[in-house]
Amino acid sequence: DLLDIGVIGLGVMGKNLALNIADNSYRVAAFDLDGAKVEALLQQEQKERPANYAQRIEGCSNLSEMLSSLAKPRILVLSVPAGAPVDGVCNALLEAGIEQDDIVVDTGNSLWTDTVAREAQYQGKFSFFSCAISGGEMGARFGPSLMPSGDIKAWDRIKPIWEAIAAKVDPKTGLPIERQEPGNPVTEGEPCTTYIGPAGAGHYVKMVHNGIEYADMQLICEAYQLLSDGLGLSAAEVGEIFARWNRGSLNSYLMEISADVLSQADPLTGKPLVEMILDKAGQKGTGLWTAVSSLQIGCPAPTIAEAVYARAVSTQKHQRQQLSLLLAGPEPLTLSDDERATFIDELENALYCAKIACYAQGFQLMAMNAQERGWQLDFAEIAKIWRAGCIIRATFLQSITQAYQQAQKVGEPLDNLLMAETFSLALSAKQQDWRRAVARAIMSGVPVPCIGSALAYYDSYRSETLPANLLQGQRDFFGAHSFERIDKHAGEKYHLNWSHSERTLEKL
Ligand code: 6PG
Repeated sequence: DLLDIGVIGLGVMGKNLALNIADNSYRVAAFDLDGAKVEALLQQEQKERPANYAQRIEGCSNLSEMLSSLAKPRILVLSVPAGAPVDGVCNALLEAGIEQDDIVVDTGNSLWTDTVAREAQYQGKFSFFSCAISGGEMGARFGPSLMPSGDIKAWDRIKPIWEAIAAKVDPKTGLPIERQEPGNPVTEGEPCTTYIGPAGAGHYVKMVHNGIEYADMQLICEAYQLLSDGLGLSAAEVGEIFARWNRGSLNSYLMEISADVLSQADPLTGKPLVEMILDKAGQKGTGLWTAVSSLQIGCPAPTIAEAVYARAVSTQKHQRQQLSLLLAGPEPLTLSDDERATFIDELENALYCAKIACYAQGFQLMAMNAQERGWQLDFAEIAKIWRAGCIIRATFLQSITQAYQQAQKVGEPLDNLLMAETFSLALSAKQQDWRRAVARAIMSGVPVPCIGSALAYYDSYRSETLPANLLQGQRDFFGAHSFERIDKHAGEKYHLNWSHSERTLEKL
């Protein structure tokens, strides 16, 4: 009477994953170093259990007990913090007698290069597999987006469980099938999981998901500041505007929850809660890793990087307080009612355009890293599994899926999402509004690093020529770094003898 799968680490994510797996009729062995967490999980299962549902989760008091309670080859899901704790559990599993055919699935937000190293490190001892997860607490409980990668044989084994527990999308509408009932999982629809690629690929893709998440959140925050500081609207009024935008092309989970946060009153003071929350943002590192990776690869992702910087500036509250008294800003904008209404509409379009640019950056980054690593990533599938369950879920993802599917159909690679007809047409139609919104932000002194950098990204990519010719001239002037000429073969290098009285051109 052996159990199907073990879950190690019963924090918020691990506990909810265990309950989700059990809802889907698998029998789970659960372990945490903190025995109280094991107890809490068992109690929650019992409390939520529908009448015809026998107990499916069993608590373990140590890893040896867990190993002996599982059917072989075993599947062990790790839900522990990224970094040293992952190796800590792997080593403890080795001591407890884990076997070569057993599979360990790391579900934390691990750094993708650590995952690559771990697969090699544990080779021959057990199969180290990874599956990045998005969706927070409710996603883990009722259907997350799952990004598995590693040994394909391990994937074959866990696939049925993963497809059962993943979020589901209605294939006709492309929309999430929302049902959050313990003991009654969604069994119809397309599961939000697909095999991403070799070790590290899933964590890389999830890292970029988080980079996009950072930028998407910051874009919404910039719109909030423009509407509140720039137009003087109350939090509740901004919440109403966001709720309206959420019914249009900006529909997304992040827009929906932002509207909800803005309309929430503070239980202590009765003021809008958002005005009582300290304006210092936290971060755990995945957005930073995305920005770092973009710099290392040389893939422009300025909007994602600006979102990381925006969080950094937010933490410098003391300096901001001092400088707010020292540095001058512009006079507030005085707008008529009509101008205010126009501004709100322009901002909606600006946000949509910036969102396209931000996703274009994320997908291009994944493509460039995949090329460097020799991964075959299927971007239509990646966009598909982000349609439900994950934090950046949005109807917009369906358009990205279709853009990649269309590119596959005509056999032309989509190097940049800006090239997809659906987006290039939208951008061309809305770009003037985008510019006006950024101009108004600048003139009113409200910082819009993400909306603005996305526009610079757009303008850079639509420029056939950039001033890098002068830059190459500067480099050649002070460092003899050489340049290529537009009238000669690619790769031929030239240098001008800038310091000689007679400046001559040399072919190197
Ligand atoms: C998700 C989230 C999740 C989490 C990250 C980012 O997809 O479910 O991305 O992984 O929110 O920890 O959090 P920070 O904002 O703290 O970096």
